[in-house]
Amino acid sequence: MNPMQRKSLQMVDHVAAYRDRLMSAAEAVGLVASGAKVAMALGAGAPPAILQALAERARSGGGLHDVRLYYMLSTAVAARTVLAADLNDILRPVSIFHSGVERALDAERLKAQAPAVDFIPAAFQHVPRLLCEHVGVDTLIATVSPMDADGWFSLGTNADYAHAVTRSGAKLILEVNRHMPFVRGECLVHVSQVAALVEHDAPLLELPQAERTETDDRIGAIIAGLIDDGACLQMGIGALPDAVCERLAGHRHLGIHTEMMTSGLARLVASGVVDNSRKRMHAGKTIYTFALGDGFLYDFLRTSPDVEAHPVEYVNDPAVIARNDGVVSVNATVQIDLHGACNSEHIRGRQFSATGGQLDFVRGAYASKGGRSILACHSTAAGGKISRIVPVLEGPVTTPRTDTHIVVTEYGWADLKGKTLAERAHALIGLAHPDFREGLERDAVAAGVIGRR
Ligand code: COA
Repeated sequence: MNPMQRKSLQMVDHVAAYRDRLMSAAEAVGLVASGAKVAMALGAGAPPAILQALAERARSGGGLHDVRLYYMLSTAVAARTVLAADLNDILRPVSIFHSGVERALDAERLKAQAPAVDFIPAAFQHVPRLLCEHVGVDTLIATVSPMDADGWFSLGTNADYAHAVTRSGAKLILEVNRHMPFVRGECLVHVSQVAALVEHDAPLLELPQAERTETDDRIGAIIAGLIDDGACLQMGIGALPDAVCERLAGHRHLGIHTEMMTSGLARLVASGVVDNSRKRMHAGKTIYTFALGDGFLYDFLRTSPDVEAHPVEYVNDPAVIARNDGVVSVNATVQIDLHGACNSEHIRGRQFSATGGQLDFVRGAYASKGGRSILACHSTAAGGKISRIVPVLEGPVTTPRTDTHIVVTEYGWADLKGKTLAERAHALIGLAHPDFREGLERDAVAAGVIGRR
């Protein structure tokens, strides 16, 4: 048999394997057993037809019980289907990163004096091990691209924890969607590994553009001024990182090694500001672990050969991050205490989001030669009534004071590395809104951190 004949025979095998596994969404969710521990892909990777069918099966009273759904960053599609409140006892949500979906469920549960949605605190880099080893998920539901000639699907927007679950022996129930880009990298799944395929072409979920304020733009300009040409960027979630991207239009030779690939970052690559030419690792390539944004981002992923998706245990490993020089990570926070510790996940005593990859990148950026991490927030919340520079955090420590490097508010920036507690307190009070500075000084004096003036 010549190579051409062998190739076409393999293709026939893959097509046959594909056909064997193809079924309706209702049939596919029939493979989810009572007691199953199901990993659900995050963000744009969540498979709408499978979620709909799973919700219908749970609601049909067909005897499904005790299913646990493990996931991060759920979306409106999940809220309408598997995470609908009336199904929470059958399909029990276990979130590792809250979105508005869990916040809404929690608000209702609070009224009913019921416990909050189950939540597992974890650094994003550890989530694959946590799911595969500690929890022992046995099923994955995710969206993939159409199959290529060699029988491979791409996880596209979502290598993150999904990739590790595809390698764990879990039952793979996948939704093939022609809108999911075939992204290269370590994010491919072979048809031979799959238990069920469901075809469903739905436009990928788009993240609404975060509304930007004048304060976001001021902070964006300050942060852009802290980024040198040739830096390797990670950008977090929210309006602030988007504001920074817009301010980087005049920069040159930037690189990207990021947890989240955003629309703002895609525009920087498309405009030539990012060329990845100064990267020591994956030179010339944009690297991410999950992508969530608008149609521009998804078209960009579809048409850009120099973009790769890799698993989160690799992308977010601080030792991997540090292999590039001049890494700058930009993330938002909720509150900063006078020692420099940051709570980036609790608001008003409730879980708002999660640690995600914040600490992974704070540590990786600092370990990179010439690297720095930047944590930013508005100086106030609630229309100016609440200071976000506080004497004591009201939530968990997302980034400990030992790790915090540069902090930014609309009043400027401070580098906390090498500063004493008193110097930190003075610097942070200088970043607080003027209305709160006196009170914060009093708190710092009372705590014995600074002396009375
Ligand atoms: N007290 C009361 N309300 C507060 C508050 C506080 N201390 N801090 C913020 N809020 C309010 C804000 O005013 C805002 O209200 P609004 O929607 O009515 O304007 C709301 O809570 C959200 O705050 P905001 O700062 O706008 O949040 P964001 O959407 O920009 O997200 C984080 C910021 C910190 C929550 C988000 O970046 C996050 O989850 N980070 C942790 C994970 C991470 O960094 N991962 C890194 C890689 S993706």
